[in-house]
Amino acid sequence: MDTLNAQIRELRKVSGLSQTTFAEKFEIPTSTLQDWEHNRRTPPIYVVGMIDKILSTEKAAKQVSGNSILNKAKSAKDNDEFYTTYETIENEVAHYIAEFKGKTVLCNCDDPFESSFSKYFIKNFNTLGLKGLICTSYCASRVLGTDSNLVDMKGEPLSNDNGYVMVLSKVSESINPSSTDAEVHEFLQSQNSVRKLVGDGDFRSDECIEYLKLADVVVTNPPFSLFRELISLVTEYEKQFLVIGNQNAITYKEIFPLIQENKAWIGYQFGDMAFRVPADAEPRETRFWIDSTGQKWRSLGNAMWLTNMDMNRRHERLELTKYYDAELYPRYDEYDAIEVSKVANIPMDYKGIMGVPITFLNKYNPEQFDIIGEANHGSDNSFDLFKPTINGKLKFKRILIRNKLATGVEING
Ligand SMILES: C[S@@+](CC[C@H](N)C(=O)[O-])C[C@H]1O[C@@H](n2cnc3c(N)ncnc32)[C@H](O)[C@@H]1O
Repeated sequence: MDTLNAQIRELRKVSGLSQTTFAEKFEIPTSTLQDWEHNRRTPPIYVVGMIDKILSTEKAAKQVSGNSILNKAKSAKDNDEFYTTYETIENEVAHYIAEFKGKTVLCNCDDPFESSFSKYFIKNFNTLGLKGLICTSYCASRVLGTDSNLVDMKGEPLSNDNGYVMVLSKVSESINPSSTDAEVHEFLQSQNSVRKLVGDGDFRSDECIEYLKLADVVVTNPPFSLFRELISLVTEYEKQFLVIGNQNAITYKEIFPLIQENKAWIGYQFGDMAFRVPADAEPRETRFWIDSTGQKWRSLGNAMWLTNMDMNRRHERLELTKYYDAELYPRYDEYDAIEVSKVANIPMDYKGIMGVPITFLNKYNPEQFDIIGEANHGSDNSFDLFKPTINGKLKFKRILIRNKLATGVEING
């Protein structure tokens, strides 16, 4: 159970208000609010309850579900606290090795001491030929737990109120991919390279954007709820990126156009991914386990990497073995396109528009295919062209493509 101090911090964060504005709104002296947020004093339980109620009512009035804000914040948080394994990062980055040479990498949702992204890029700093590595964290990592002995560079316990930043432009030659975590930790402690941020380390803050400006490539796993914001920010600053997300994000209005315009594409790992989750994560019936060390885990069946870094697979041609047959490839009710229910069944000779499963993106070569849009609800966005029904029966969400290289029968579409 969160403390009243944590609850008040959460309520203010969810409200999106600064400490001053929040204090003014609820007629609390700003210094009192700061004392509450920094655990110097405890807010009365009825004040926390009252603020939760007021904010929840305000949200409900805006036609958002009227659940308690704290409950909603908790469930959003549970979905955001998925910690990536070292192997997941290692297996993905292996496909882009040459792209990293001479670059500064920013991991902007990553605790310098705890995140596997930080560890991976420290251990591989020299082998990848990096120019720099910056990691910024959002407050203290929850994976650390409260009994962590970690201290900052001044020997003080890590604070929960601020983010941290680590800036490295050199890593000792003695640190390499076979170094242990303890050796990395010792190296970090021996350097003056980690310091407390002024703010909470929100990647959208001005302070963190200054670090973004210094970077060439952003590599991280952000909270899934902020995925679209992170990708929008990183593309606005014209950075390269390699970022973990949920496949649902593909059809977001901020993401799909990037894929359609070949400004972003799917990485190698697409589907199952296992993540460590915090000790207080709620157990679940499926895709949840606790290992022999007591570490809790969850897996997702629809995780993905999204990137704009060049990779071989994007240039490999998808081998097609089937031919168009009107009997086998029915047309949609509302649009002149054919339904192809499996990527392996894409006909090599069909020149018109085809609706294919989202897994197609994992095989997409822009020299071979054009992406025309998607068929989902038929109304969400300008690229959501129609609802994929055949004889009134709704099909799965589809990506609409055209084979640029199709030869053979001329078919309308
Ligand atoms: C899905 S977890 C992944 C952590 C780490 N990148 C990894 O892969 O192990 C997302 C992390 O982002 C942090 N976070 C939440 N909101 C953030 C924000 N606005 N800016 C930066 N980081 C944030 C969370 O505290 C959490 O540690």
